[in-house]
Amino acid sequence: MNKKLVLFFILSHVCIHSDVKPRAKVGLLVMATGKYTLFLPELFASADTYFLPNHDCTYFVFTDGQVPLSDHVIRIEQKRLGWPYDTMMRFKVYYDAREQFKDFDYLFACDADMLFVDTVGDEILGERVGTQHPGFSLPHQRKDDYERNGASTACVHEAEGQYYFAGGFYGGSTQEFLRMAFICTQNIIIDLNHNIIAQWHDESHLNRYFIDYPPTVILSPSYCYPDLWDLPFDKKLLALTKNHNEFRSNP
Ligand code: GAL
Repeated sequence: MNKKLVLFFILSHVCIHSDVKPRAKVGLLVMATGKYTLFLPELFASADTYFLPNHDCTYFVFTDGQVPLSDHVIRIEQKRLGWPYDTMMRFKVYYDAREQFKDFDYLFACDADMLFVDTVGDEILGERVGTQHPGFSLPHQRKDDYERNGASTACVHEAEGQYYFAGGFYGGSTQEFLRMAFICTQNIIIDLNHNIIAQWHDESHLNRYFIDYPPTVILSPSYCYPDLWDLPFDKKLLALTKNHNEFRSNP
């Protein structure tokens, strides 16, 4: 057998037997309306270095402002909805853009006010991927902050739930991500029709979803690490401290 043929057999064997493609197409979805665009240049520079460096990543920005120009940044017009809709309607915004994600293998969503500080690699590539919230993962901390209002579709009952997940970073295969976005959108709309807003908005619905469809990959708080906290985890993706009121004021 000639050398090229041997190489072909080795490579096809590797491709068939590995779950993760050697180069996957990955979308990073970021909602950045109003002042949140200020975070984009540094977020994207840090993602260029640390976010899945061995894969083909595209950053999708949902915004009413300017985005850093680059061949792997796609701007999608999104007007401000006001607090808390800018955060809570993210699932709907992502789902409505699903045509754009047709050719992608994986989708991840991250808050705009985050910064990659270490390599985030293949360990995050799974069907459904959740990140343990930094405020609820250590023995001395409270166990969770689930929605407890029985009238909300996000309600989690006392006997349910093992982990509390952060709304700042999650993802999965494109199919699973869009299924999650669709179901959470439906639930959020049902709640709105009953004048209900779950206490942590999209994060509450994400937590309900992850009880019904458990993550196949559970990431530690390394992937949503508040920059001013001191936790016994490596820092990989920082959640930056900001003045919430300044950013949340309505247009
Ligand atoms: C806070 C965070 C909120 C929400 C909350 C849950 O630290 O800023 O977005 O996740 O924890 O208790």
